[in-house]
Amino acid sequence: MDAPDAPGDRSGGGSRAPPPERTQLPELIRRKRDGGRLSEGHIRAFVRAVVDGSAQGAQIGAMLMAVRLRGMDLEETAALTRALAASGQQLEWPEAWRPQLVDKHSTGGVGDKVSLVLAPALAACGCKVPMISGRGLGHTGGTLDKLESIPGFTVIQSPEQMRGLLEHVGCCIVGQSQRLVPADGVLYAARDVTATVDSLPLITASILSKKAVEGLSALVVDVKFGEAAIFPSRAQARELAEALVGVGAGLGLRVAAALTAMDKPLGRSVGHSLEVEEALLCLDGAGPPDLRDLVTRLGGALLWLSGMAEAQADGAARVAAALDDGSARSRFQRMLAAQGVDPELARALCAGTPAQRGELLPRAREREELRAPADGTVEQVRALPLARVLHELGAGRSRAGEPLRPGVGAELLVDVGQRLRRGTPWLRVHRDAPTLSDPQRRALQGALVLSDRAPFAAPSPFAELVLPPPARAPPDTRQ
Ligand code: URA
Repeated sequence: MDAPDAPGDRSGGGSRAPPPERTQLPELIRRKRDGGRLSEGHIRAFVRAVVDGSAQGAQIGAMLMAVRLRGMDLEETAALTRALAASGQQLEWPEAWRPQLVDKHSTGGVGDKVSLVLAPALAACGCKVPMISGRGLGHTGGTLDKLESIPGFTVIQSPEQMRGLLEHVGCCIVGQSQRLVPADGVLYAARDVTATVDSLPLITASILSKKAVEGLSALVVDVKFGEAAIFPSRAQARELAEALVGVGAGLGLRVAAALTAMDKPLGRSVGHSLEVEEALLCLDGAGPPDLRDLVTRLGGALLWLSGMAEAQADGAARVAAALDDGSARSRFQRMLAAQGVDPELARALCAGTPAQRGELLPRAREREELRAPADGTVEQVRALPLARVLHELGAGRSRAGEPLRPGVGAELLVDVGQRLRRGTPWLRVHRDAPTLSDPQRRALQGALVLSDRAPFAAPSPFAELVLPPPARAPPDTRQ
């Protein structure tokens, strides 16, 4: 957490009287703790204290927990979103770019490498994608952490550098910084280590504040539901989707929210460098069908929402074509080189075979295959126990700012719906630890759910799209 542990004015105010809000922080926390509402002024005061360092870490944690337990209504959530967005700079782009400015964000999943593929694919379709993304949160993986497993990749880019990236590449994937939504940076890191991730208003404000500064014409948020999602129940995820769409509309943002299942990992790889490799496969026009399905659907929805495609299906076909003809991969290569990766490494990664790519990215020290304990059809591969064990092995953080082990991860060697024989390898674990503990091995074996059913085709993770108000986006009847 960036906030100091002791109070103190670091803003250099000299003889100025302390701002009245600062002395009120305990009162604001008490008010929320007791179930009261916070006014826009209260919320701005809290966010200001977070950014100027006058809020103690304990106070930030207490307020986050109070909000997690007591919630916020939509007005408070919108006020928090505005205050977080206003904590940094608003990005400004040439007027001619307006219709092309789009972005996608996810509430967080396991194996979710969609952003790595979709940003360059959209750029190849003529969009400008100024993606401000996040790090791992709880057991879910973070886009920035995945990209940082590529040697040299730099997620901190100034607004001026972002403009250059959009001009020359069409997309960038960056982190919040001192200039971009700094308050979200502090709260995001604090939530990750204070069990306050699963809060509807905190998620809504965190996501939309980053997007509000991007000056977008359209945003799609992938709201996960299922065992490994931040909100497991579809009803709760729908509530979050509606909050994102509604609060977004209030901020002048055209937001659609896709509800997608997160029971099994997306694709076949989990872990930072392994997911980069799988994203590259998708950018080759290949890779796991569930990943490609989600990339093309979300991209199709965005192209339609921004008016760049007549229907979602047309947009999806354009995204698929950009994957198949190599233009999306070429944008990815250019983005890597423009964001600090040695151009020769970027070229080798994008042009290489899967085996060659594996040699260019960080690798864990050991690999170990787990075997099916019985005959059966793969009913499910549960993402949650898998993610928790990988987290323990170093793929996630327990303290803010902790370094990650980029090569740690797992490859699924089987698909949902597939028939398996006892003893068949089903999971390859990549670990730096000398061995898996017995509880870890048991938890991983518990992730494989077998049944007596006949083999079946794995379902698409996509469930539904929650659209902005009809007056602003007529329902698409062509898909
Ligand atoms: N992504 C974010 O940016 N914030 C959240 O709270 C969850 C996912």
